[in-house]
Amino acid sequence: MKILFLNGPNLNLLGTRETDVYGNATLSDIEAKVRQRAKQLKAEIDFRQSNLEGQLVGWIQEAKGKFDVIVLNAAAYTHTSIALRDAIAAVGIPTIEIHLSNVQAREDFRQKSLIAPVCCGQISGFGQFSYILAVEASVNVIEHKNNG
Ligand code: DQA
Repeated sequence: MKILFLNGPNLNLLGTRETDVYGNATLSDIEAKVRQRAKQLKAEIDFRQSNLEGQLVGWIQEAKGKFDVIVLNAAAYTHTSIALRDAIAAVGIPTIEIHLSNVQAREDFRQKSLIAPVCCGQISGFGQFSYILAVEASVNVIEHKNNG
């Protein structure tokens, strides 16, 4: 069971960035909690961050045949990137869209996700716990795929 976590632009600044919206945990803090939960569920984790759209597209393409699920916090690219959407559709790996904040309760431009239609589900609004829920959702997606 292999899960690829991809984090988009500005998520490297978690811990100092708009802490009223995104909380005080750094991305490394979140990664540590994800790894802890994944270990309990016997899942392997690869956890990456990039500020570059093309890098994220490349990682999605390379995931084919290597990962069972992708968990994607595309950050601002959620709302703009046809390239990320096309990459997810192209590889056909079940992908879970996640956000720390509740994007539906924020500005209008955040309420549209270009990637949602090609994802199997969305987790949004639980702060760093969105990432833990994503580990659990990933395991559920994999088990359902294998057992019908
Ligand atoms: C975010 C929400 C996005 O709208 C924003 O651009 C981010 C973070 C979140 O995790 O809440 O950078 O994806």
